[in-house]
Parts: sequence; structure tokens; C-alpha cells
Amino acid sequence: MVKVTIDGIEIEVEEGTTILNAARQVGGDIVPPAMCYYSKLEGSGGKCRTCLVEVAAGSERDPRPMPKLMVSCSTQVQHGMVVKNLTSDRVKEARAGVTEFLLANHPLDCPVCDQAGECHLQDLGFENGKEGTRFEEEKRTFAPRDIGDKIKLHMNRCILCYRCVYTANQLTNKRVHGVLNRGDHAEISTYIEKALDNEFIGNVIDVCPVGALTDKTFRFKSRVWFLKPMNAHRDCPTCQGIATVWMFGNEIQRVTGRKDAYGEIETHNGKTAWLCNTCRFESKDVAQWTIEGPRVINRHSVISQGHYVLKNPLEDKSTVKNLK
Ligand code: SF4
Ligand code: FES
Repeated sequence: MVKVTIDGIEIEVEEGTTILNAARQVGGDIVPPAMCYYSKLEGSGGKCRTCLVEVAAGSERDPRPMPKLMVSCSTQVQHGMVVKNLTSDRVKEARAGVTEFLLANHPLDCPVCDQAGECHLQDLGFENGKEGTRFEEEKRTFAPRDIGDKIKLHMNRCILCYRCVYTANQLTNKRVHGVLNRGDHAEISTYIEKALDNEFIGNVIDVCPVGALTDKTFRFKSRVWFLKPMNAHRDCPTCQGIATVWMFGNEIQRVTGRKDAYGEIETHNGKTAWLCNTCRFESKDVAQWTIEGPRVINRHSVISQGHYVLKNPLEDKSTVKNLK
């Protein structure tokens, strides 16, 4: 075990743990945002730079500060390391800069985007963004494309985090999409417009941090904050059948994987509960599910403004402080 201090909080973690995962073990506000890292996807991270932190002391043996800000999702902790995230002005400035870069080409179409209300870039912009933009050039644009009959790609919104590429690598036996071209021309694409037709490919929608990949069976049906998220499960021969069903009245409008506080699919019975396409796209009848009850949503999320969601006051640190 090694000792590391993050924003003044000391914690012991296993050797080889990254700074980001050490911070996640503490939880709360000190956890750096992560737009590309996804703990369940091998090789993810190191693309978006939103998770930069300052290392004020490298280790007990060599306590010199690291001169540059470090990528917390892929820098391992050392014994005696001192990390600053929220307590570092350099980090705040860099994160605002990264947010500005991500938004340089990302359209501000939240009012018509299906991801609004659960978009990580929206949250990042809200927490770290500037009021105005200095970007006067034209944003790069691509026509929206169908990739398969259930998934829509809005490349304009893509931040090239590669999560969907790693998802296809990991969950399917032949990936047919990837990042083509370089620099400003880089785009998520399939050669020869191939459909993404693997039984687990719907998970690219769940891992996409923005609204670049959306569910065609749900698009434009409703805003997520008007829906009632419920934990539900079903007997499925293909996947674990563990999902969140999003209801309007008694109608299921969409089905997603169950996501944790970091927007990642939860682990159940020791395995990541990736959903199969049948559960996600073709099981919209309430009779197909056993509904367990309302899903607890962080009270800071706009989704929790819906009156349906059971709020857990203990999840909120300020409430815990007040209770004490
Ligand atoms: S489509 Fe979404 S998941 Fe894929 S690289 Fe773009 S932002 Fe990431
Ligand atoms: S989350 Fe670390 S670089 Fe993207």
C-alpha cells in the first residue's frame, strides 16, 4: 500500500493505482472530471486532458514537485505523493482551457440534443467553462449519419474520446468503426458505411460522454428530466439483464445500462453489466421487466428535478455535514 494526499486528504491505496482512481476512492468533489477514461474499458484515458492535476510532491523519496500538470487517469501514485486538484489555481486555469478547446468545435445545441441533462461536457462547461467564447472560426461540421438501424452518429458533437472504439474492441469480435483521419479532420466513422450490428454494440451509446451517439428508438421522444428512471431487471439469455428503464407514465421510453456516479456502467456479480441490444432496443414493454423501484439520482443532476426520483440525502456531502 502507498500513502497519497489529495487536496489535503490522506489515503492509502494499492501500489499501481492511478491518481484518478485514488481520488475516486475518496469520492466527492475532489475527484477530477474524466471525459475519456472509463475504468471498464481497457486502454481508455489519456485523450481529453480534463483530468489534469498538479503533483506538488512526487514521492517521499523525491519530494520535488512535477513541473507540468499530470494526467491523473494514467499517472500512478507514489508513496508520499501530494496531489492538488481543487486546491490548485493552475489546475483550474488548465481545466478551463481544456473545456474551451473541447467546446471550440462542439456545437451549443443542448436544447435539441438527446444527451442534454446527462451530458458530461455540459457539466464540465457548467463547472469550468467561461461565459463567452473566443472561437470565431467556423466549427467543423459533418452530416448526421445512421450507423446501423438503431444508432445515430452526430459527429459534430464528438470529442474524440475513443470510448466507443474501445467498447467495440472489447465487446465485439470484429470492430468496424474507428477514428479516421487526423487533426481537424479526425472523425468517428465506419469504412464503407457498414452498420454496427453486433449484439452488444448499443453500449457505445452508454459510454459516449456527449450526444454524439444516440439511441434511434428514443431520439426526440422526451427530455430525460421528464422521465422516471427505475431500476429493473429481466431474464436475458445474452446479458445480465440489469438496466435502468426510463418511464413516462407506465410506458418505457428508453432502456439504458445502470450508471454509477462517474457515468460508468455498474458492476454486478463481479461483471460489468453491459446491456445487449435486445434488452436495450427491443424490450420496451413493462411486462418484460421486473421493476425494482426508483433509481437514486444525484440531487445535483437536472434529472433529479423530476418529482419521480427518490433522492438519497446521505449522498450529498453538505447534507451529511449538516446531519453531523
Ligand atoms: S462518438 Fe462519443 S464515445 Fe465515440 S469518440 Fe466521439 S465522443 Fe467519444
Ligand atoms: S480522463 Fe484523463 S485524459 Fe481524459
